Amino acid sequence: MNCKSSLEDWRMGRVIADKVIDDLKRRKLVTKEKSIWYSLKKGPEFVAKRKTLATDVTREHLKSGDWKDLEFKDYNYGAQGQPIAIGYSQPLLEVREAIQNIFLEMGFSEMPTNMYVESSFWNFDALFQPQQHPARDSHDTFFLKAPATTTQLPDDYLEKVKQVHQSGGHGSKGYGYDWKRDEAEKNLLRTHTTAVSTRMLYKLAQEKTFAPKRYYSIDRVFRNEAVDRTHLAEFHQIEGLICDYGLTLGDLIGVLEDFFSRLGMSKLRFKPAYNPYTEPSMEIFSYHDGLKKWVEIGNSGMFRPEMLLPMGLPEGVNVIAWGLSLERPTMILYGIDNIRDLFGPKVDFNLIKSSPICRLGL
Ligand code: PHE
Repeated sequence: MNCKSSLEDWRMGRVIADKVIDDLKRRKLVTKEKSIWYSLKKGPEFVAKRKTLATDVTREHLKSGDWKDLEFKDYNYGAQGQPIAIGYSQPLLEVREAIQNIFLEMGFSEMPTNMYVESSFWNFDALFQPQQHPARDSHDTFFLKAPATTTQLPDDYLEKVKQVHQSGGHGSKGYGYDWKRDEAEKNLLRTHTTAVSTRMLYKLAQEKTFAPKRYYSIDRVFRNEAVDRTHLAEFHQIEGLICDYGLTLGDLIGVLEDFFSRLGMSKLRFKPAYNPYTEPSMEIFSYHDGLKKWVEIGNSGMFRPEMLLPMGLPEGVNVIAWGLSLERPTMILYGIDNIRDLFGPKVDFNLIKSSPICRLGL
């Protein structure tokens, strides 16, 4: 092989056989390099200065008549809109409204929940919760210093509540202890919205003729609890109740299935539970597809006769009721794992700003 002539060929840009190149490479006489060359020429639209395309026809364009020759910029249908510089709604408010709409669709009317301060009487005693019940103790309840007590309690009803606690009646043995008015007069921050339901049922019982009702409420409650990732000392409760003649546990299960399926939770399970004011009582669990497990979503039951009959509701009227927190479904829906990002002084504003204005489903 003539190296010299091959190198000469290469230098002159002549085509060289692959085999020759390989030989030269092996002898380290050449190395292979790759270059890309472009040849640019002026195109048909070439101009020395870039034309600015018109985006609008202005009054001036119309006046001067140059709109005829204008070249318009194409619409960019894929462009993002400007961020809207307005207020943003809190996820809790969004979910609250969605749940409110479910209740309204189901024919429920709202109960007035404007009393954060309540007496122990309406929060506990009227619900047949004994005065020595641990939940009444200051570990769970915020009692008020001023005014520490209430003077406005309905005397004749109070007497009936006292009776049912002490010695029972209406087929009940009662608790057999010495009921104290002082204890019932103590003011507190309501620990559940069932206090509101109780007031409403009492009011209903005072009407001349009984009419079936469906009531709901969504508002704030307070518990003297240790604050952590999933608990705050104040949160919101959602509560629904139906009162009518001859309601059964089957009605409660049916209405819970209807209510929760509208919230997107159609796999429900019920577990027997205890509340001083309901019998039977059931905890409600729903299968969470994301978490792949059964999670507790609420509590429910049928109000006890010891609660309803002293109010004056007719014999044979039953009340089915359930309660759940607003925070829990909101955290699940928005994928929030720390309640302090959602509610309270450490709320994450970016989370609120970036959450969607509307969502499908709930
Ligand atoms: N008051 C209950 C709670 O605080 C919820 C509940 C409401 C239970 C109605 C039964 C009936 O958890």
